[in-house]
Amino acid sequence: MKKLFFIYHYITHRLKAGNEHSIHSPFVYGLLMDVIYVKANFYPFKKIEKVREQLIDSKKTIHCIDLGAGKGKSINKKISRIAKHSAKSSKQAQLLFRLADHFQPSQIIELGTSLGISTAYLASANSKIQIITIEGCRETAEIAEQNFKHLKLKNIKQVVGNFDSVLPEILDECQNLDFVFFDGNHRKESTINYFNQCLEKSNEATVFVFDDIYWSDEMMEAWKEIKDNKRVTVTIDLFFMGIVFFRKEQAKQHFLIRF
Ligand SMILES: C[S@@+](CC[C@H](N)C(=O)[O-])C[C@H]1O[C@@H](n2cnc3c(N)ncnc32)[C@H](O)[C@@H]1O
Repeated sequence: MKKLFFIYHYITHRLKAGNEHSIHSPFVYGLLMDVIYVKANFYPFKKIEKVREQLIDSKKTIHCIDLGAGKGKSINKKISRIAKHSAKSSKQAQLLFRLADHFQPSQIIELGTSLGISTAYLASANSKIQIITIEGCRETAEIAEQNFKHLKLKNIKQVVGNFDSVLPEILDECQNLDFVFFDGNHRKESTINYFNQCLEKSNEATVFVFDDIYWSDEMMEAWKEIKDNKRVTVTIDLFFMGIVFFRKEQAKQHFLIRF
């Protein structure tokens, strides 16, 4: 049933979404041409995809605690299964790299490290960017740590804990938020809660990226509430991800883009 729900919304999105030819906003047009639709293969991609392949080939099982939609359930999971189903696809993770490369945030907060694939892409955009990535499952975070060592990524600070308790502590120490990737705990209340906390530290140049905005009714409702927020001006809905901007000079507008 959930699969049908997803396919229905995917087809509807494909039918309604536009591309560079239907966009009149110079900011969004520039972003499409310079970032979203860029096909270049940047040099770190190959190394990170090799790590993904190794994870998919792994025969190991780890003990996982799901603090998100799994509501604290604890189960044994094959690393290969996590790599196949939880990590962002190469196409989407490479877009994260390009967004970080384009906006050059000094700091990125990521909610949901998992095995570290998206983190590795974000961190590879520039070694000067400081990434703080949060993961609730210790054994999963340990595999991510090994991957960061293997990739020689030194600009990542891992925090193991529940977003609910560690995000406020991280935000307390942060003056200005540049970039946040929300990729864990796909429940409406939690998503809105994390959004509101981050909003307090955001400014006109902050970029928020939300993963899986069509994952469930709850996530679609959360995405709508985010778009409706007074401080949000431009949003770009790519189906698998939603990008949020707070640019004051821009009239409020929501773009549905084929990606
Ligand atoms: C979809 S995965 C992240 C995938 C990763 N960003 C990538 O693309 O490679 C979401 C992760 O968030 C973690 N998570 C979910 N809810 C959480 C919570 N409340 N606190 C901490 N971690 C949580 C899960 O354990 C899971 O590993």
